[in-house]
Amino acid sequence: MCGIVGYVGRKDAVDILTKGLKRLEYRGYDSAGIAVFNDAGEILFRKKKGKVNELTQVLEKEPLAGTIGISHTRWSTHGVPNDVNAHPHLDCKSEIAVVHNGIIENFQELKDSLIIEGHNFASDTDTEVIAHLVEKFYEGNLEEAVRKAVKELRGSYAICVMHKNEPDRIIGARLDSPLIIGVGKDENFLASDIPAILEYTRDIVYVKNGEIVNIDVENVTVKNLDGARIEKAPERIEWDIGQAEKGGFSHFMLKEIFEQPEVIKKIINTRISDDSIHFDELKIDEDELVKARNIAIVACGTAYHAGLTGKYMLEEYTRTPVWADTSSEFRYRDPIVNKDTLVIVISQSGETADTLAALREARKRNAKVLAICNVLGSSIARESDGVIFTHAGPEIAVASTKAYTAQLATLYLFTLYMAKLKCSLSEEKIKELLNEFKNIPSLLSETLSRYEVEGNEIAHYARDFKAYYEKSHTKSFFLYLARNINYPNALEGALKLKEISYISAEGYPAGEMKHGPIALIDENPWVICIATKSRTYEKMRSNIQEVKARGGIVVAIITTGDESIKSLKLNYIIDIPEIHEFFSPILIAIPLQLLAYYVAREFGYDIDQPRNLAKSVTVE
Ligand code: M6R
Repeated sequence: MCGIVGYVGRKDAVDILTKGLKRLEYRGYDSAGIAVFNDAGEILFRKKKGKVNELTQVLEKEPLAGTIGISHTRWSTHGVPNDVNAHPHLDCKSEIAVVHNGIIENFQELKDSLIIEGHNFASDTDTEVIAHLVEKFYEGNLEEAVRKAVKELRGSYAICVMHKNEPDRIIGARLDSPLIIGVGKDENFLASDIPAILEYTRDIVYVKNGEIVNIDVENVTVKNLDGARIEKAPERIEWDIGQAEKGGFSHFMLKEIFEQPEVIKKIINTRISDDSIHFDELKIDEDELVKARNIAIVACGTAYHAGLTGKYMLEEYTRTPVWADTSSEFRYRDPIVNKDTLVIVISQSGETADTLAALREARKRNAKVLAICNVLGSSIARESDGVIFTHAGPEIAVASTKAYTAQLATLYLFTLYMAKLKCSLSEEKIKELLNEFKNIPSLLSETLSRYEVEGNEIAHYARDFKAYYEKSHTKSFFLYLARNINYPNALEGALKLKEISYISAEGYPAGEMKHGPIALIDENPWVICIATKSRTYEKMRSNIQEVKARGGIVVAIITTGDESIKSLKLNYIIDIPEIHEFFSPILIAIPLQLLAYYVAREFGYDIDQPRNLAKSVTVE
């Protein structure tokens, strides 16, 4: 995820563009850059590694002036975060400047042929091909050149483009990355998100996929890829700035929960093409992967729960022994890892001290270390032998949500990738599973759509819980039960709940209940039972009956249409669409996250920044 802003008007563009970037920093902050036309109509630019503040410091020393320009804050995908890879990117003659949010999947083939045609590239980014393509197609009409250029692109993009020969306008285009137009008086804007421009206008036009936008001081025109004009009326936005940064959601956590279909879609678009799985940045030889006699998965917190799910996935489909461990335990217990072990470390931030130490320990013992990580350029990504990025975009809320499902999705694809290498699954079976996997974004959207309005069922259950908790003189607590591949989800549901609502919550494999936790069951606990259709469905039904027989309150997560389970007199029901058991953890994570969110909201806690916690734990 990156943030882009474009401005055409009569005011100081540098001030408007840098302020806009600051409001988009939630989308990434590896580097920032800006380009404006000067009085002579030349393109001048500044760009700098680091946050927008670093760029503004550069601008204080080397100021720019102009009333038309484009800007960018970067979440790196192709090319490390440095000054050169920062946007804007230019063509060979520095006459064209481009800022881009998204990923150009076919950039390498485009770059190769542009080089053959004589273009010189300065950066390692995918974005730079856009500047050179526009250069190639430019024949005196920038809009036309952009239209031709984007037809060559595969992947996702929201772009702003300016050309020296047309210093009165900016051209924008979009495919699968957000872009809005802000319509003002004697000024117009382009941006990735509304907060960037809300200070100046509330009249917004949403750009759709395949649309090309042409803005100057007075006019906004939108056309399709064939050049036909599309009439679009602005919508009036009534948000205040605080609301807008969260995209209209009350908290970052809720926003991030609702971003999950997009995140998984992005993973699919980045990783799957022609029914094959690609991990371009992996850098560990396929032979090394096949040769691994065992796999150790090491991580902390939510990432550990993803890793534990990965154990179920990898063992089932690659028939390789796998164990999962928390990083802080792994490193102090003389683990049996050696050159025959593939160690997978998982981390959203890539900076977690315990996981970094575990990684170093594993490498010291000659194991190959593969990182599954969200942050490009992070210590864990840099120090591992190979890396797979999860592409979840910046996660702001301390309670991890979209990073978790992105880790699960990545582990699924890695499992199928390994199964192919090891021939432990047939090509047909892999294809069949990949087809199921591709349905996940729409199933996630379907699930989320049930809970997007205020007063939805889960919010209502949370309200009931608070009343119950107070009536029980705070004796109520949560117990999460599940089996098999959803057992780690029970741990994750409990972690989510306790970290933001400070209420005691435990996750257990349901089969273990009779070995101890059943002693806790009376009328006080709320027992969240994951009882969707699966191999262990009948066993879960028995566990529910055992809880009910002792007076516990059961909240059951069931498969939509499962009428028979309702005969167990469940207290509360959350249903999710039918999905292959193997992939069900991604979908079931949604109600678990929402329940934690709504309970914390009922109690009025600081959901995005819960007490005593930090987003990135860099101490041991
Ligand atoms: O950045 P990491 O994924 O390495 O972080 C690991 C844990 O600190 C993290 O998952 C933590 O448990 C979250 N607050 C859970 O929501």
